Amino acid sequence: MTELIQRLRLASLARKMRSDWDRRAREDALHYVNTGQERWDEDAFFATGEANVQDQILSEMTEICQGREPAGMRVLEIGCGVGRMTRALAAVFGEVHGVDVSPEMVRRARKYLQSTSNVHVHCNSGTDLQVLGDLGFDFAYSFIVFQHIPSRDVIDRYVGEVSRRLRSGSIFKFQVQGHQGRGLRKPGRDTWLGTSFSESEAAAMATRHGFDLQRSAGAGTQYFWLWFRKR
Ligand SMILES: C[S@@+](CC[C@H](N)C(=O)[O-])C[C@H]1O[C@@H](n2cnc3c(N)ncnc32)[C@H](O)[C@@H]1O
Repeated sequence: MTELIQRLRLASLARKMRSDWDRRAREDALHYVNTGQERWDEDAFFATGEANVQDQILSEMTEICQGREPAGMRVLEIGCGVGRMTRALAAVFGEVHGVDVSPEMVRRARKYLQSTSNVHVHCNSGTDLQVLGDLGFDFAYSFIVFQHIPSRDVIDRYVGEVSRRLRSGSIFKFQVQGHQGRGLRKPGRDTWLGTSFSESEAAAMATRHGFDLQRSAGAGTQYFWLWFRKR
């Protein structure tokens, strides 16, 4: 019975995440993906993805690739939005798969990425990666996505699934909400301000799913970076 209630709760939250992000995508997808500007020129918007890949990925290629050729690596991006980072990732790695809960975001991403042949964009459930079948990955990444998920359980499930799909030694680099402010510690239904993690909770999540917490940055802030290394 409790399992059934849990499943119903997850399904209800998934519907809410989908409808909220679809609404944001229809209203102004580029703004809600990157709130740095009210209105974006498309070229300037995609240039921010290239700059983020430069800062967050290209500066860490030794750690991320571990001797492998980037062109031979398959990469997963969770919460790809309209493909802002996905497009820049595809210029570096051989094959990139983006997943997103919002069909409206996915529709826009497919349009923006239609001439990028090594990218695949999938609309997922918002709580798991089943849509990817049995695909395995060499690197996984998620940027400004888990901060919006108001459920520790959903984030934990994603981390577990990424662990099962990553090859041993590979890195999952992602952000969570680290700010411990009022309301952020409790599960809720606010799909903008997600649930937060302390450093020890993040470390416990890594261990629980067969990762080593290689390093972290920004604990206590809304941009709490985690580098999980698959054992
Ligand atoms: C702020 S945007 C960031 C998009 C992209 N990561 C980027 O940096 O350009 C957050 C994205 O996460 C997606 N998202 C939110 N909750 C999700 C969930 N539970 N599962 C998958 N995607 C989710 C939203 O639809 C949205 O496209």
